[in-house]
Amino acid sequence: MRKLSPLPASIVLMLVSGSIAAAAGTSPSNSAQVARGKYLVSIISCTDCHTPGTLLGKPDFTRYLGGSEVGFEIPGLGVFYGPNLTPDKETGLGNWTDEQIATAITAGKRPDGRILAPAMPVDSFKNLSHADALAIAAYLKTLKPVSNKVPGPFGPSQKPTSFVFQVLPPNKYTPTVPPSASGPKPSMTPAQAPTPAAPMPSPASGVPAPVPTPAPAGAPVPMPTPTDVKAPTPGPATATPPQPPKQ
Ligand code: HEC
Repeated sequence: MRKLSPLPASIVLMLVSGSIAAAAGTSPSNSAQVARGKYLVSIISCTDCHTPGTLLGKPDFTRYLGGSEVGFEIPGLGVFYGPNLTPDKETGLGNWTDEQIATAITAGKRPDGRILAPAMPVDSFKNLSHADALAIAAYLKTLKPVSNKVPGPFGPSQKPTSFVFQVLPPNKYTPTVPPSASGPKPSMTPAQAPTPAAPMPSPASGVPAPVPTPAPAGAPVPMPTPTDVKAPTPGPATATPPQPPKQ
């Protein structure tokens, strides 16, 4: 057996400096960036639209930002579901670069060129600084990967396969039956209405009243027609629904 000859000093130096650079790219200053991203994601409430269950009143934080099962209807465009933002490679952002994620957030453009539907609030997010958008991307990369491919997107003539968040004219509105069928009282005040029997994990997000629609009941509800513009209601026509006694 021949002894390995020592590596020339220059190569050793290159190797050492290379590994330092590689480490620097993934750890030291990165933790401040990730903390900044976490902070931004927590206050911007990405979870409302990107965590399963949230729009149904029961956020599943074990699948935090793992993609929503409730899609937003954008009249004329179709129905769009908040996708999985975790680093899962098959169903999430695992194969996106930080720059690609930042571009999707602030310019509404996916790597494949598709422009995101305006359910994603790009109009606000375009005001994020590039550094903050990259911080969000860096934080998303640290999330626990969740395997969940959201449905859609569906075109306006396609039938969605999961819940739809839709704006209805008052004459089309019927209250959604709560998930637990264990005898919720019919005399709920609006503020109490969405509270299910089981204690909810602390809501954390500031959204007061989720409005899930009944969903795939098969009723092909057309677009909200502007017929109610005339507001012929004889009752007390205030801006709020005239329904139950308020408190
Ligand atoms: C009001 C709902 C809503 C909020 C709040 C929201 N999003 Fe979205 N987001 C969506 C929807 C809906 C889509 C999908 C739109 C489409 O498919 O055209 C989307 C798409 C995306 C995409 C593209 C992913 C992909 O696979 O195409 C990224 C990235 C994203 N959002 C990140 C974020 C981040 C980060 C935040 C918080 C800073 C956030 N979103 C807040 C609704 C929302």
